[in-house]
Amino acid sequence: PRSIFFSRHGESQYNVEGKIGGDSALSSRGMKYARALPDLITDNIGNAPLTVWTSTLQRTIQTGQFLPYNKLTWKALDELDAGVCDGMTYEEIEKAYPEDFANRDNDKFNYRYRGGESYRDVVVRLEPVIMELERQDNILIFGHQAILRCLYAYFHNLSQADLPYIKIPLHTVIKLTPKAYGCDEERYALPI
Ligand code: F6P
Repeated sequence: PRSIFFSRHGESQYNVEGKIGGDSALSSRGMKYARALPDLITDNIGNAPLTVWTSTLQRTIQTGQFLPYNKLTWKALDELDAGVCDGMTYEEIEKAYPEDFANRDNDKFNYRYRGGESYRDVVVRLEPVIMELERQDNILIFGHQAILRCLYAYFHNLSQADLPYIKIPLHTVIKLTPKAYGCDEERYALPI
């Protein structure tokens, strides 16, 4: 059976600073994760074919850089666009846009950032990615928190209300193996 591997990018400079969005590079911890991945993946998959998909953002590309597999970058895998809030911390957003902050809390799936996207928007833009995923053999995706929540919810059939709260930790590879109904799941957390 084929598998789909998901991982967030390694810890980024913006993660360290608590800022959302952006296109920052990996932190030194994030780089350690990138260096540890080849052993983890190769031990898991052996000689089977694998293709690595990343977003166009440097933190996902850097995370995959040491893996000896064919790679493809997808703009559709870029993180949820936070519009005017891109590059801010949650504290800064709450201060600058208190109503928006409360609205997001009330309906996180439908809340659309000013000049940016909602989770609903992201689900729509991921449709071609999901169509392609359904046709492919083993795929490893280096993505972002919001993106992986949408993909994970698709494969596990989770509701729109739960989707924006799914826990997708850093430095963890999630392996999904689709079955007739639903998916088996394994997680590999790297102590970085
Ligand atoms: O903080 C990392 C991050 O990927 C941000 O870039 C993004 O806006 C956020 O997570 C998505 O998570 P949430 O929807 O819970 O704010």
